[in-house]
Amino acid sequence: MKEKFYITTPIYYPSANFHIGHCYTTIIADAIARYKRLTGYDVYFQTGTDEHGEKIEKKAKEAGVTPKEYVDKIIENAKDLWKSLNISYDYFIRTTDEDHIRRVQKIFKKLYEQGDIYKGTYEGLYCVPCESFWTESQLVDGKCPDCGREVKLVSEEAYFFKLSKYQDRLVKYYEEHPDFILPLSRKNEMLNNFINPGLEDLCVSRTSFTWGIPVDFDSKHVVYVWVDALSNYITSLGYPEDDTLMKKYWPATLHLVGKEIVRFHVIIWPCMLMALGLPLPKQVFGHGWLKIDGGKISKSLGNYKDPREYINDYGVDAVRYYALREVPFGSDGNFSEEALISRTNSDLANTLGNLVNRTISMEHKYFDGVTKNPRVYEEIDHELIERVNNLKNIVEGKINGLKVNEAIEEIMEVLRSCNKYIDESTPWTLAKDESKKDRLATVLYNLLESIRICAILLSPFIPDTANKILEQLNTKETSYESVNFGALEENLKLNEPKILFNRIETK
Ligand code: MSP
Repeated sequence: MKEKFYITTPIYYPSANFHIGHCYTTIIADAIARYKRLTGYDVYFQTGTDEHGEKIEKKAKEAGVTPKEYVDKIIENAKDLWKSLNISYDYFIRTTDEDHIRRVQKIFKKLYEQGDIYKGTYEGLYCVPCESFWTESQLVDGKCPDCGREVKLVSEEAYFFKLSKYQDRLVKYYEEHPDFILPLSRKNEMLNNFINPGLEDLCVSRTSFTWGIPVDFDSKHVVYVWVDALSNYITSLGYPEDDTLMKKYWPATLHLVGKEIVRFHVIIWPCMLMALGLPLPKQVFGHGWLKIDGGKISKSLGNYKDPREYINDYGVDAVRYYALREVPFGSDGNFSEEALISRTNSDLANTLGNLVNRTISMEHKYFDGVTKNPRVYEEIDHELIERVNNLKNIVEGKINGLKVNEAIEEIMEVLRSCNKYIDESTPWTLAKDESKKDRLATVLYNLLESIRICAILLSPFIPDTANKILEQLNTKETSYESVNFGALEENLKLNEPKILFNRIETK
């Protein structure tokens, strides 16, 4: 039976159309999902949208539409964006889905009935015009930090989740599962800043707005948006109504999240799961932020374009490649169009595109496009073949360690050595000498075979381009199992060469 791999992105707030930062997480999750599928896993890849809460309610009001009308439009746009980025999700969950709503209500009720959720009083400093609660330390000169007006101490009835009850078990879980939170620095941050000072019970209902999932046994309350949102990872699998998919895919193998929401995924979520008696996810990876000019990507600053503009201008794989290759996974990184262009030109147009184009063109020029492998080897061949043969394991190791950018760089290194191999073996010189014909055929076979293997290994990252290369090669050997030097067919008639990436000229 195939091993299971359940990978998730955060479910995004549809408060505005998605930007390149949202694409970043989703492209990485997609690449990992595709890679796992390629290598034989039974993958379940989920993304979606987190649609409730006061902010969305306000935005809809400003736009003069209902919250549902407001989010529907953004979700249509998001699904279209994922399609143009070739995101291969298996399931798209919306927290406004009826199944999800009903299941969250059941989860909330179960926790209430077993005593993990209780009714209490929420006390806080409240700004009436802003409808917001603040803590003492958030106030500016004792006033509301947003509008500068007086706040008042109010108390309101609310439900609480007994987070404190699970503190010891949570710490023990961290200790026993050193890979639960990655990168490691994020784990230390959680322990030092949030857990060791002592977990307080969490307020899990609100009465100050209505755009949320109603607590079905006390309908003036809506479920706190994080309880609603985190539950998506199991309600989509049918929990608590149907256990077929739960048995198959739970616990999740990997929750991929931005660093700002690691806290919710490694504190609230595990405690909720412990309370529900469910196993915890195997890993939560908190990646860094993509910034623009070193700052936040922000709608109000208007500092970003619709990601589709980049796709239209440079191609989907240029955007995917940039997101996957540019930033060391885990760190913050800067997004700039200049860097996207220069990455596309150097890696995709020069290293990969030129290699493929000149190799296929030479095979056509010298052998009518038909492959032969007379195996007339020289020393440099062994070096190249060994490198290509080692690549599969190296890439696998890098992906398993979630070092996506390094996995890609390893493939690029091999492609660079192919270019060097051309320069050193000089096929155009061999072609002038009839007695070197078999040597020439061997050189070209080695190159085509290296290209085929790199294309298969690149397919999770730049699937369109990988397909185009395999199509030009006209090979049937496209499986992961065929990633073994020598599997490329002999007497294979290649298709005509086609340019993969045009060099982008900057103005
Ligand atoms: N709805 C919550 C998540 C609930 S998950 C149960 C949320 N949504 S969000 O719309 O704010 O999106 C957060 C995620 O989008 C981040 O965790 C991150 O993965 C991704 N990103 C949003 N902006 C980003 C960047 N500028 N850079 C990288 N990732 C970014 O939080």
